[in-house]
Amino acid sequence: MRNSSADPSPGSRILGVGAYRPARRVTNAEVAGPIDSSDEWIRRRSGIVSRRFAGEGETVVAMAVEASVKALAQAGVAPEQVDVVVLATMSHLNPVPAAAPQVSHLIGTRGAAAFDLDAACSGFCHALAVADALIRTGGARHVVVAGSERMTDLLDPADRGTAFIFGDGAGAVVLGPAAQPGIGPVVWGSDGSQHELITLDRPWDDVRSRPAPWPTMRMAGPEVFRWATGTVPELCRRALTVAGVDVTELAAFVPHQANGRIVDATAKALGLSEHTVVARHVEELGNTSAASIPLALDDLLARGLVPSGGYALLAGFGAGLTQAALVAQLP
Ligand code: UT7
Repeated sequence: MRNSSADPSPGSRILGVGAYRPARRVTNAEVAGPIDSSDEWIRRRSGIVSRRFAGEGETVVAMAVEASVKALAQAGVAPEQVDVVVLATMSHLNPVPAAAPQVSHLIGTRGAAAFDLDAACSGFCHALAVADALIRTGGARHVVVAGSERMTDLLDPADRGTAFIFGDGAGAVVLGPAAQPGIGPVVWGSDGSQHELITLDRPWDDVRSRPAPWPTMRMAGPEVFRWATGTVPELCRRALTVAGVDVTELAAFVPHQANGRIVDATAKALGLSEHTVVARHVEELGNTSAASIPLALDDLLARGLVPSGGYALLAGFGAGLTQAALVAQLP
């Protein structure tokens, strides 16, 4: 039996990045009312200044399509060349069917394989690792890796622990074969014993068996904060070691945009060089879960802040609990 359908490649690399930010910008003042908070508190505790909330028609599928089409254009890859579409999402509310096949259809692939991947806020790094492995083992030559979230569908505007943090949006990259590895080995893991730290406030079964309110997210913020700041730096150090990249060689550090204080704490713990650009897109977009890393990458590239070919350290962490980090070469 042959062990691959395409020619295996020595490596893969990001060829293009795209993003979609919903039209409606929502200020801290707007979300603060129902949670008895303030612009000042939200900025101080999270670094967030605004976020985008998706409106009608800005669905998980539609936003992923917009981001993917832009990423393909930047990559110079035709939709017909795409073999696989991996969509990282935790907010596609319909389990049947998955969202990725519609994304694949709407971006114009020739029936590319397509599947959703749910590893919450670390989903994009998981999806990137899967796509890289597919290209290296000959399962695919070009893969669209998207993260798309409509977190507002899971939010209770009156919940103090989540209402001001999360936002909506999508980001995508196109991965293709490369003579040298442009994606470092992934370092990842999970701790299901802590699954209750970020969860819905009631199971969907409740809605089935009796009239019950729509399930919404709850987060034990301080516990998750401590876990993230305690474990992400070491995860990042291991990702650098397995990639053979020294911290001084990093052009960019792009952690999941959960909270500006987590970004700052992890950046400080890593002892980054002054020339390493740290993504702080959380200020503008809040926490967009699986979409936050490609959105932040798109922002850094669009503003010309990072060099083509430079190394970016990507690190995702979130519900599950799950985490994943890897080094990626910038397109
Ligand atoms: O993306 C997946 C992973 N998620 C994360 O990584 C998020 C991690 N957690 C966090 O980012 C932070 O925990 C939050 C931003 C969610 C909260 O910040 P915090 O500094 O952990 O706040 P806290 O919950 O410890 O609350 C501090 C104080 C408390 O008052 P006292 O007890 O000090 O008097 C709260 O009652 O702030 C109060 N408080 C609020 N005040 C105004 C809590 N929530 C609010 C609020 N507005 N929304």
